[in-house]
Amino acid sequence: MSKYKANVLFQLTGSIACYKACNVISKLVQEGCDVKTVVSENALKFIGKSTLEGLTHHAVYMDTFEDRSALEHIALTKWMDLAIICPATANILNKLAAGIGDDFISTTFLAWDLKKPYLVAPAMNQNMYAHPATRRSLGVLEGWGVKVLGTGRGYQACGDNGSGRLLEPEEIYIEIVNSLRRTGLSTVGAAGVEGAGLAKPSDDRALRKRRGRRMSDGHGVAERVLRSGPLDTGSQEKDFANPVPVSSARVHNRKEEIKA
Ligand SMILES: Cc1cc2nc3c(=O)[nH]c(=O)nc-3n(C[C@H](O)[C@H](O)[C@H](O)COP(=O)(O)O)c2cc1C
Repeated sequence: MSKYKANVLFQLTGSIACYKACNVISKLVQEGCDVKTVVSENALKFIGKSTLEGLTHHAVYMDTFEDRSALEHIALTKWMDLAIICPATANILNKLAAGIGDDFISTTFLAWDLKKPYLVAPAMNQNMYAHPATRRSLGVLEGWGVKVLGTGRGYQACGDNGSGRLLEPEEIYIEIVNSLRRTGLSTVGAAGVEGAGLAKPSDDRALRKRRGRRMSDGHGVAERVLRSGPLDTGSQEKDFANPVPVSSARVHNRKEEIKA
């Protein structure tokens, strides 16, 4: 039975981690979400349109000026209930924070209705992740109400070992489910949505336990998370060596965000 009657705009940029995003897309579709994908030109060097079309049953958007896509960047922001960029490159994060709109993803971001959840899941080499430009951009985006997901630590494709790995698909899926729950769009655990936007202090042991569960058990994981209330994965605290430099305009729940 479908549990999430939500329209998800899933955007991929040029990272080797694109393959992991496919698991998340597949899971969302299986759970009842209508998922449309947008790719940067460079994302197509890591993943094929056919894969995304096969998973979502929708054509992939990339070119703002393509006939079919004219004004779609506006239509999609109206259609979507939630947007995510996964994986989000250093390039797109820095571009968004600078207010640039020179491709489909960045133009759509500028047309974003701030009342709707917008998530970014960074994926990059540890030095790119630690770079002052990237860190400042993450802070700016958070200040605008974007939910910046943390990253994992460990082996990186370039051979480095450190922060900047894309979170595991299950963790990203859970973050999306939590955001949908806050909007009241998930049909499971909808009670108590009000106020759920406030993150609770993270509990490392609970987090490790949750992280240990497999993606194949995603359905059950989502249900458990929904039953146990909002999940703060704590990934951000874990992986930002210094807190994200959030502007003084940072707000703490979506009601305040909308007012701000
Ligand atoms: C093999 C390979 C892997 C890459 N992986 C990443 C990555 O994980 N994160 C990142 O920020 N950039 C990565 N890059 C660099 C980006 O693809 C590059 O900055 C590109 O301009 C990003 O464009 P986009 O943000 O429009 O997709 C990688 C490049 C190559 C060749």
